[in-house]
Amino acid sequence: MTTPESLTNTHSKSLINLLRGWPSTTLLPTQALSDAAQSVLADTSVAYPGLLYGPDEGHPPLRNTIAQWLTEFYKPSEAITKERIAITGGASQNLGGILQVFTDPLYTRNVWIVAPAYMLAFRVFVDNGFSGKMQAVPEDEEGIDIEFLRREIEESEKKAQEHGNTEATTKPARPYAKYYKHIIYCVPTFANPSSRTMSLERRRSLVQLARDFDALVVSDDVYDFLQWTSTISPAANEEFRTSAILPRLVDIDRTLSPAPAATDFGNTLSNGSFSKILAPGVRVGWAEGSAALAYGVSQLGTTCSGGAPSQLTSTYVERLLKQGVLDRHIRTRLQPAYASRWRCLVGNVERVLGPLGVKGPQSDREIVGGFFVWYTLPEGVLAEEFVKRCREEENVVVAPGSVFEVPGDDSISFERDMRLCFSWEDEDKMVEAVGRMRAVLEKMLKGEKQTANMNDGEMKHFW
Ligand SMILES: Cc1ncc(COP(=O)(O)O)c(C=O)c1O
Repeated sequence: MTTPESLTNTHSKSLINLLRGWPSTTLLPTQALSDAAQSVLADTSVAYPGLLYGPDEGHPPLRNTIAQWLTEFYKPSEAITKERIAITGGASQNLGGILQVFTDPLYTRNVWIVAPAYMLAFRVFVDNGFSGKMQAVPEDEEGIDIEFLRREIEESEKKAQEHGNTEATTKPARPYAKYYKHIIYCVPTFANPSSRTMSLERRRSLVQLARDFDALVVSDDVYDFLQWTSTISPAANEEFRTSAILPRLVDIDRTLSPAPAATDFGNTLSNGSFSKILAPGVRVGWAEGSAALAYGVSQLGTTCSGGAPSQLTSTYVERLLKQGVLDRHIRTRLQPAYASRWRCLVGNVERVLGPLGVKGPQSDREIVGGFFVWYTLPEGVLAEEFVKRCREEENVVVAPGSVFEVPGDDSISFERDMRLCFSWEDEDKMVEAVGRMRAVLEKMLKGEKQTANMNDGEMKHFW
């Protein structure tokens, strides 16, 4: 995940990395974490449980605090209880855990992935036996294409019937889990990479569809707390939102008629994480779903052996949440900083690259957020070539649309698209990068051949 020194130093221009989806180090709350760690370790009533094997479902006070905190932010019609929460080692670890507990690689027919998709999720599906079973689902400005998905799932079900695929054969029946026929994976709010937000109507239709076909929708709800208005020149004393833009799929699954029975597993799981709002290295996240589903998440073999993931850091996060420190950090540091970075990047791209035909998404959205912006290059300019030239001629690294295509399914491609990230580099670097990208784009539009050639290895060095 790191950039080798040799790659950054060979170019005459300094490296600017708009690919990396990490928080800027200037936004990591080191003092607050240090205070939380010291206060936990000085108090044996918290330090001892924190340093021992945690209960399978996770540090009980953190489950409680997260339940209250989510109730305040999402304002569901009924309060979220701690039984709906399991502590995880972050969204990535938990995606793997969900697949281990709730899927069977033969019985589970497909993993349906809204495309463009978060590219690092693909390997998790492959690790769990789903290579060759991943299928891309298109989205438009409103989000996932429900009719497409319904047609494709019906087709997949027909095939399963023909092959007599009627029960799980790889894994045994277990009281704490069930095996879903389908998995649907999406990022409904401020998506990585498309920066789109799925409309309320599509969210309702998606939950209904999941119920109709025995699917589990896993939504990575990891950017919901990072949101601001899309005005490029906001009021000086801008107020930031303290509640969610829309209900999550899990909120809808709880209330959509007919309401599920208390013992049901349900059809949605919210995969939450403190990586984007605190620090990825803390490796704490949570899963929310029905009480049965949350309990099932906690019954992973590795958890039953090793205790709840990230037990010690869970105690630090609990302090930060309980004392309101995390909320204050989000409101007073992260939202203003990311809003300013987003405005800097989007404003510059519009002004500098817009006249050359570069287009952004969902321009009429009132609230935006997350870490990324998705752009489409002008007609005739292929993103892979543009990205390669940006890297080799200008030492600017960005992600081409092809990286976000679902492996093994070439029905949906993103040849003219690219993702720019505004969370990692500072604003002056982003301004500089946009100017350098313009130089490349102008040359490509004039048909000028590539000038420099820097053999700088794999894209993954820059993630
Ligand atoms: C959509 C999405 N899911 C999951 C992750 C990783 O989350 P975590 O650090 O909690 O594993 C990211 C990080 O980029 C992401 O964008």
